Amino acid sequence: MDLPKQQDVLQETMALAKKLSAAYENLVVLGIGGSSLGPKALFTALCHPFHNFLKTPQPKGMRLFFPDNADASTFAGLMSTLNVERTAFAAITKSGGTAETWAQLLWVVNRLGKDLSRRQLVALTDPEKGSLRATARAEGWQALEIPPAVGGRFSVFSPVGLLPAAAAGIDIVELLQGAQSMVERCEKAHVFENPAYMLATTLYLFDTQKKRSTHVLMPYADALRETGDWFVQLWGESLGKRKGEGFVGPTPLRAVGATDQHSLLQLLMEGPEDKLTLFVSVEEPRENLEIPEKVFDLPDVSYLGGHTFHALLSAERQATATALAAHGRPSLCIRMPRLRPFAMGELLMLWQVTTAFAGFLYGINPFDQPGVEAGKRYTCCLLGRPGYESAYQEIKAYETSDSAWIF
Ligand code: PA5
Repeated sequence: MDLPKQQDVLQETMALAKKLSAAYENLVVLGIGGSSLGPKALFTALCHPFHNFLKTPQPKGMRLFFPDNADASTFAGLMSTLNVERTAFAAITKSGGTAETWAQLLWVVNRLGKDLSRRQLVALTDPEKGSLRATARAEGWQALEIPPAVGGRFSVFSPVGLLPAAAAGIDIVELLQGAQSMVERCEKAHVFENPAYMLATTLYLFDTQKKRSTHVLMPYADALRETGDWFVQLWGESLGKRKGEGFVGPTPLRAVGATDQHSLLQLLMEGPEDKLTLFVSVEEPRENLEIPEKVFDLPDVSYLGGHTFHALLSAERQATATALAAHGRPSLCIRMPRLRPFAMGELLMLWQVTTAFAGFLYGINPFDQPGVEAGKRYTCCLLGRPGYESAYQEIKAYETSDSAWIF
């Protein structure tokens, strides 16, 4: 909650973003999970939907790419498409040791060579710990700090989110003002005055009292699709935890209206009664189009003429909420005034404080991720990292050579 007030970090991040965008056209973010989802959510929400295709991207800034996964077809495809001389790379990893990120980083350093890496590469990591910090120091790479107390999925208002956003031309001062304004509302002690307490309490009670344990975030705006992915990580990784002898945690799902009315909605409407739908509406769209009248004389479709696309989407959201209610299925709606940096700052801060508070209600620590760490440990073992040999017996124990179980 302190991140929006860190003026020195803001200045340092803006200066580096300016330097990169003056020298390069593209910025490739090498990172995964919380080191990629936050900046990606900001980029897709606040830049032109085809920013990377524009001759002069608007808002004026670098083209951003998020290969994210260590999938060679994506990464090789991207690297063969970009002009590497016009490309800067931001290697982001809080722990400093994530395998997917390092695989991409090693590939990039090998491709650029050590001299160009000093110019074209920026490292974002813990100020002291981890291999990325040590390497950045040894190699003289440009670097920014991820504050030690801030975990990956809570890092969007640190340089993790801010550097790529500023490089793409997003007004990060306004973004942080929105986040700060939400912090102030979330500091109110009374649940009815505090939007994060209200949201966390509502979702917690739906899960634990009404057995509505699947929480579906369904924005009616394509620009918020990646915000849905960010929410899934935040809600799932923070709250899905072992508690004493048992387990707790809601299951987050991401949908997009109206697209998923033609996909998930049937399940939400008539499937198991274990879901709560959280709509997000954008009251004032960035673009609007009027649906032309009298193009054809078709009674079935002529009612559309004269309405706007936005009116159609809004009606679809209201219709879906009504249809859900008519089937006894609950929903709620978060209304955003418009897709501006301020409102995104508010929305992303709201969810982060909500998550922290929900962790308190569930009685678990929302800031760790022992499950993710376990996966990383087995990967290191399988790839022969020294010191991880002891995991081998555990891996073997779950393998089977019994043909009765192999289909
Ligand atoms: O939220 C988290 O802590 C994780 O999901 C991490 O973001 C993810 O595992 C990537 O870790 P790192 O930033 O250390 O590379």
